Amino acid sequence: MKNFLSVKDAGNISGLINSALNFKKVPLAKPILGKGKRIGLLFLNPSMRTRLSTQIAAQNLGMEAIVFNASQDGWTLEFEEGAVMNGTTSEHIKDAAPILGNYFDILGVRTFPALKSREEDYAEKIMNSFVKYSGVPVISLESATVHPLQSLTDIITISEYLPVKDKVKPKIVLTWAPHVKPLPQCVANSFSEWVNAWGKAEFVIANPEGYDLDKSFTKDAAIFNNQEEALKDADFVYVKNWSNYKDYGKIIPVRGDWMLTNKKLELTNNAKVMHCLPVRRNVELSDEVLDGPYSIVTEEAGNRVWAAQAVLADILNGLS
Ligand code: CP
Repeated sequence: MKNFLSVKDAGNISGLINSALNFKKVPLAKPILGKGKRIGLLFLNPSMRTRLSTQIAAQNLGMEAIVFNASQDGWTLEFEEGAVMNGTTSEHIKDAAPILGNYFDILGVRTFPALKSREEDYAEKIMNSFVKYSGVPVISLESATVHPLQSLTDIITISEYLPVKDKVKPKIVLTWAPHVKPLPQCVANSFSEWVNAWGKAEFVIANPEGYDLDKSFTKDAAIFNNQEEALKDADFVYVKNWSNYKDYGKIIPVRGDWMLTNKKLELTNNAKVMHCLPVRRNVELSDEVLDGPYSIVTEEAGNRVWAAQAVLADILNGLS
């Protein structure tokens, strides 16, 4: 693996899952694989889990991890080719990224979409610029359209609960949930493309009318506008809000109550409930579900370390 920007870079997903689960059993199994190597973790947007889990993963492999809160402490970056920089940006990515490539052996970058222009966000200009100009492997710590370390974690977490009794394939339902502000489609896009690429589940998406995601991520997943119908006999329910893809970045009116409750969970096959976190309690997910016996959100977040460690180990194996 050279970069880790989406499921397309993952290669053998089962191999990554096995590697992650081996690290979960023995975190210090490869304590000198990253000796003498340094990873820079650049945050253009906030993070708790991604930042800390990637740092821990790097340290478990003997790497030095340096976090740079670029949006707070760095110069404002310019990404437009040929820009006349007489406005608010202070440093061009063409100048900054090669320096980061000089300081670091691997770069991790987090950047959120602006949610103003679908074309601009889906072009992934910021992440692709770091890849183009840094000259070192780049790991997405979440980009404008996907969150691959989260999605790998999610598949690892689901794998730990398999097989489901009397089923060849578990039923996974990704359900839209309400939120107070427009959120990116990244987690939902990414979860969809990873479940599809993994290919070991019946995959269903429940979202209100008008909230369909980009088909290039959801592919053949069955889309339901009726959440309760979608939840029937589900083994895993993945809860996430996303803003509108068609009326890009907007929140449009929604019919019915889309927050997951214990009553709705009764329709499922005692489904495990997942969420990438952070979660707005009693808006996206009710207290009763989050604090109840079916929530596995804390375990899921714990697995972020092993997903990051599996990815880092794979990239380190390819470095001279
Ligand atoms: N799930 C996730 O990416 O969490 P953070 O935003 O805290 O990193």
